[in-house]
Amino acid sequence: MTEEMTRREDDDDSISERECHKGVKHLCETGIAKLPKKYILSEFDRPNLWKDGKPYSKFNENDIHLLPVIDFSELQGSNRPHVLKFLANACEKYGFFQLVNHGICSDVIRSMMDVSRRFFELPLEEREKYMSSDTYSPVRYGTSFNQTKDAVFCWRDFLKLMCHDHPLLSDMLPHWPSSPSDFRELVASYANENKRLFLMLMEAITESLGLITSRPNKQSTKTGGDGDQYENILEELENGSQLMVLNCYPTCPEPDLTLGMPPHSDYGFLTLLQQDDVAGLQIQFREKWVTIEPIPDSFFVIVGDHLEIFSNGRYKSVLHRAIVNSVKSRISVASLHTVPYRTVVQPSPNLINEANPRRYMDTDFSCFLEYISSCEPKKKNFLDSRKLI
Ligand code: OGA
Ligand code: NI
Repeated sequence: MTEEMTRREDDDDSISERECHKGVKHLCETGIAKLPKKYILSEFDRPNLWKDGKPYSKFNENDIHLLPVIDFSELQGSNRPHVLKFLANACEKYGFFQLVNHGICSDVIRSMMDVSRRFFELPLEEREKYMSSDTYSPVRYGTSFNQTKDAVFCWRDFLKLMCHDHPLLSDMLPHWPSSPSDFRELVASYANENKRLFLMLMEAITESLGLITSRPNKQSTKTGGDGDQYENILEELENGSQLMVLNCYPTCPEPDLTLGMPPHSDYGFLTLLQQDDVAGLQIQFREKWVTIEPIPDSFFVIVGDHLEIFSNGRYKSVLHRAIVNSVKSRISVASLHTVPYRTVVQPSPNLINEANPRRYMDTDFSCFLEYISSCEPKKKNFLDSRKLI
């Protein structure tokens, strides 16, 4: 046992479990000088932010330009075939890409980030009205990663908003927070734009998988074969589920002992992540953790488990995590998109053949929710549980 650990065990850690459940924003507001025990990861799980007094990264920062950036406007022009190849390579080899020139107006994005910040600045009594452990709730405020299960807590508070496709409710907006007063309006407008962009990206991704060779005329009748494939997945996604996660990472007194979010992959087809100007997202690339420096107004797009399944393993969902710091609080908004709640996700039949047999079992969203209520959804272990070979 290290000296550090001994010191802490000797200390009388006065922060109670009950206080921790109120979230890290609350802990910060009560004023803490060191990290309570509840948040201290075992040495093996710590982020290793410093070495010999300097920021430490095993990733060679000179290689940062190798990470894929996609210019969305080019995808719409004559360069589309070339960009599609680049997109395919990004989803196969990296499982993520930065998206610039995506067409969503920066006012919509900035208002979303601003209203998220104002939500987390509300008094705890207002925020905790939305606390719930029910994963089906259309609005859920909470802390850590899986608050009812985590032995060690993460340094994050969140608000999860279901935007589309709930098993019982048709309209979720009336359930969203009514404070700040412009919250619903700004979030709904961002969510709609986000969904539209996601659908255009999925059209390109479907095409990049070779599932369609030309963009079908919406008026024309189905022609069978690849045309059907196009219609099916994109139509399902159009009516699909959308979850927005507003993340708040307050400043942390000892950021090298904890994480904002543990390593995980996202469950859906794609996550479109918006982060403010404070770095904190890390992606696993060639077995190293790479910090993704925010590009203003761009989206960071993450391949999720459902796209890995749909592509029969050709596109890979990627492990990522969030680190925290002692200087600046950070806000991010993740939008997770997938098929409707009860729809089965399976490898596209057009991507299965003798040389490339089916690699995953049928999966749906409720089966993921069942999984997370019984197991730890960390790393990629949900996806691993769906593997056939
Ligand atoms: C998430 C996520 C990372 C971040 O919400 O699933 O991975 O930077 N967020 O907040
Ligand atoms: Ni994530």
